[in-house]
Amino acid sequence: MPIKGVINLPGDKSISHRGLMLASLTEGVCIIHNISTGEDVETTRNCLAQCGIVSSKENATVRISGGLFNTPNKALDCGNSGTTVRLLAGLLSGRGISAKFIGDNSLTQRPMNRIIDPLTKMGVTFKSNNGFLPITISPSNLKGISYSPQVASAQVKSAILLAGLGAEGETVVVEKIKTRDHTELMLAEMGAYITKDEKISVKPMNKPLQTFELTVPGDPSSAAFFGALAAMLPNSDIIINNILANPMRIGFFSVLKKMGAGFELKNMSKKYGEWIGDIHIYSKPLNGIDITKETVPSIIDELPIIAVLASQADSPTTVCGAEELRFKESDRINAICLNLTNMGCEVIERQDGFIINPGNSLCHTNIKTFGDHRIAMAFTIAGLITPKRNILDDENCINISFPGFNAILDKVMR
Ligand code: S3P
Repeated sequence: MPIKGVINLPGDKSISHRGLMLASLTEGVCIIHNISTGEDVETTRNCLAQCGIVSSKENATVRISGGLFNTPNKALDCGNSGTTVRLLAGLLSGRGISAKFIGDNSLTQRPMNRIIDPLTKMGVTFKSNNGFLPITISPSNLKGISYSPQVASAQVKSAILLAGLGAEGETVVVEKIKTRDHTELMLAEMGAYITKDEKISVKPMNKPLQTFELTVPGDPSSAAFFGALAAMLPNSDIIINNILANPMRIGFFSVLKKMGAGFELKNMSKKYGEWIGDIHIYSKPLNGIDITKETVPSIIDELPIIAVLASQADSPTTVCGAEELRFKESDRINAICLNLTNMGCEVIERQDGFIINPGNSLCHTNIKTFGDHRIAMAFTIAGLITPKRNILDDENCINISFPGFNAILDKVMR
C-alpha cells in the first residue's frame, strides 16, 4: 500500500532545546510556538526550572522568563538527553552556577570528556565518574579559549560558545568538519557578539540578549522517517510542510535524492535566521551510495533510517567515518546491523560504519531497540515494507523525540 498525504510535524528538537536555553539569557518573556513534543525538550525545561528559569506551557506554546538563575538544590536529571547535559553544562558555567548532572542508563554511558576538557580549560572545575555522569560543575572566573574539538559535535561546540558568553575575552571554536549551527544563528539574531566564518567566535554579553517570539519549524529528523517510507513504497507521494531546511540538517534528503528517490524542496523562506521549506517526496527505484566522513554530521541522526532505505536499493551502500554513532542513545552501528541482519538483510559491521548488500527481501522480526527512539522508529518503518509489522521490545522510547509518530503514520497509511 502506498502512503499519501500532506502533513505538519512538531517543532525541531535541537531548536526547541536552544530556544529554551537562550531565552534564559534574556531579561523578559520569550514565547516559543510549536515546541518539540518530545520528552528530551521537557527535560531541558524542567532542568531550567530547577535553576530558577520558570516557564509555562499550553499545548505546544511555551512562555519562558529569562534573567535570574539560582543554584539548583538537587541534581539536574537530564534523563536520556545528551543535548540537555552538554549545552546546559556550558550555559550554567557561563552564568557562574554550580550544578550536578545525572541521567538515565543510556546517558550515563555516554562520554562527557568532550565537554569536560574545553570547559576545564576555560576555568570550570569538574567532578565526574571518569568522564561519565554524574558530573558536577563549579565554575569561577571563566576565560575565553581557542579550541578545536576532537569530534565533530554541535553539542560540544555549543557548550563552549554558551560558556564563552560569560567568559573574559574572546572564545573561539574551530571545527574540522562543520556541524549544525543553530546556536550560532540564534545567538546572532538575539544580538550576541558572534562572528562565524572559518572559525566561530563569541565575546561576553555586556547586556541581556533580546527577547523573541519564535515558531519552531518542523523537525527534519522526524520528517526523515516519513520521507524514507514514501521513497520505498511504490506509488507513494507525500508533502511535509514547514520543515527546518538548515543545510546542516537536510543531508538526509540529499542522500535520498542521490539514491534516486523523488525529492523537491519548495517555498523556502528564512525566519529567525533559519531556512524553512516544504518537502515533497515520491517513490522511485533506489540505488546504493557511498557515504563518507564529511557528510556524517549532516545525517548523524538519520543514519538508522538511511540503513533501512539502503536495504531496498539495487546496489550496495557503504557508510564510513561514522564512529560517533557508537556514542549516541545506543551503539547505533551495532543496533542497525543486528536488527537489519535479523530481518534477513546482508550487512557487514565496521568499527566506523557498515556495508549493506541488498538483495534479500526483508522479513518482519522482533526488534531490539536498546531503548533508542531512532532505532525504534527506523525499524517500525522497516516493518512496513515487510508482509507483517516488526515487534519492538520498547515502543515507549519513541516519546523521547516524537510522541505523535505512530498517530501520523496511521494518518498517512490510511
Ligand atoms: C544535537 C547534535 C547532535 C545530534 C543530537 C542533537 C544538537 O549530536 O546527534 O541528536 O542539538 O546539538 P552531536 O553534536 O554530539 O553529534
